[in-house]
Amino acid sequence: MVKSVNVAIIGSGVVGSAFINQLKNLKSSINFNVVYLARSSKEAIFSNDYKPVDLSNYKTSPAQAVLPLGDLIKFLTGASRPTILIDNTSNGDIAAYYPTFIKQGISIATPNKKAFSSDLKTWNEIFESSEAPNGGLVYHEATVGAGLPIIGPLADLVSTGDKVEKIEGIFSGTLSYIFNEFSTTDAGSNTKFSDVVKVAKELGYTEPDPRDDLNGLDVARKVTILARIAGFEVESPTSFPVESLIPKALESVESADEFLSKLPDYDADIQKIKEEALAENKVLRFVGQVDFKNNKVSVEIGKYGFDHPFASLKGSDNVVSIKSERYPNPLVIQGAGAGAEVTAHGVLADALKIAQRIAN
Ligand SMILES: NC(=O)c1ccc[n+]([C@@H]2O[C@H](COP(=O)([O-])OP(=O)(O)OC[C@H]3O[C@@H](n4cnc5c(N)ncnc54)[C@H](OP(=O)(O)O)[C@@H]3O)[C@@H](O)[C@H]2O)c1
Repeated sequence: MVKSVNVAIIGSGVVGSAFINQLKNLKSSINFNVVYLARSSKEAIFSNDYKPVDLSNYKTSPAQAVLPLGDLIKFLTGASRPTILIDNTSNGDIAAYYPTFIKQGISIATPNKKAFSSDLKTWNEIFESSEAPNGGLVYHEATVGAGLPIIGPLADLVSTGDKVEKIEGIFSGTLSYIFNEFSTTDAGSNTKFSDVVKVAKELGYTEPDPRDDLNGLDVARKVTILARIAGFEVESPTSFPVESLIPKALESVESADEFLSKLPDYDADIQKIKEEALAENKVLRFVGQVDFKNNKVSVEIGKYGFDHPFASLKGSDNVVSIKSERYPNPLVIQGAGAGAEVTAHGVLADALKIAQRIAN
């Protein structure tokens, strides 16, 4: 008999629509029965008899109002099959509901960092509920490095008894691009920080207000997740030092446009740090670190020698280096750390892993 799982998908934005497309074309021995699809924060497609949603025309199919989360749980647990919830949003309210979903036996696959990088209590509640009998499974590979295999391999090292000494990486595609362009091995380069930020925004690499990238908080959230997986009990992404790249005086300017127009006034400060690094044959990179030896978690500008793997990073790639007892020469994982297709494949691969464990 063919095994099946029910699937509820929330969100059809950049990642969500790529996910739906990949799921539609998936070749699997398991049948994925999509019983609920919230194509926006307002509209959802579902029927009370759990008839599969037709993924080929979900954009135009008749829809209803999205179910409040409590009603969604009732709807999903009323079905006879196990369910995987795919949260392709960055919504904090949905994330805050994960423990409730999991306690009700609903499994979760998501690229949404919010639940895993908020307070430690929520993290513990999620994973304790998941390990309880009849708890749902939780996979969140795409919360760090998009589709790159980082969380799975790190968790495997830890669960099989390796001792992680240091995790170090470039976890923001936007800041990777900015520093790869700004700080190169070319001594003749006269690239200004503010110009690179401006181009990054024009290319669509930054958030609408680049300060949402430059404040370092997105990197801090990812570092929080990796630290916790490795056993470092980080209280929250604001409980350790995070270097902001926003000049103090520009933190409170009203608009993104005003911020960008005033940023050149502060180029000299970061230019000086770049030139000092260059004099030591080093480049600047914006890195997150979990250092067990020194009991330190941080997000900051670091200096790396020209021959270091971080120095040769290209475009908006992410990279992580994991040094452990088994890997004294660090394990390095590198590649695209953002983008619809790679993120969606990370989520779908997680959904497949869950389905292989729960489908019936
Ligand atoms: N894009 C990337 O490269 C990337 C990489 C790694 C991880 N991620 C993560 O992937 C997630 C999705 O990112 P994205 O770029 O696809 O964002 P996005 O384009 O803004 O899409 C978000 C989608 O979620 C929907 N949504 C928000 N709140 C909802 C709610 N309460 N109920 C139902 N639907 C809701 C939005 O609908 P409305 O339009 O109606 O609000 C929209 O369809 C985020 O957590 C992000 O951090 C993205």
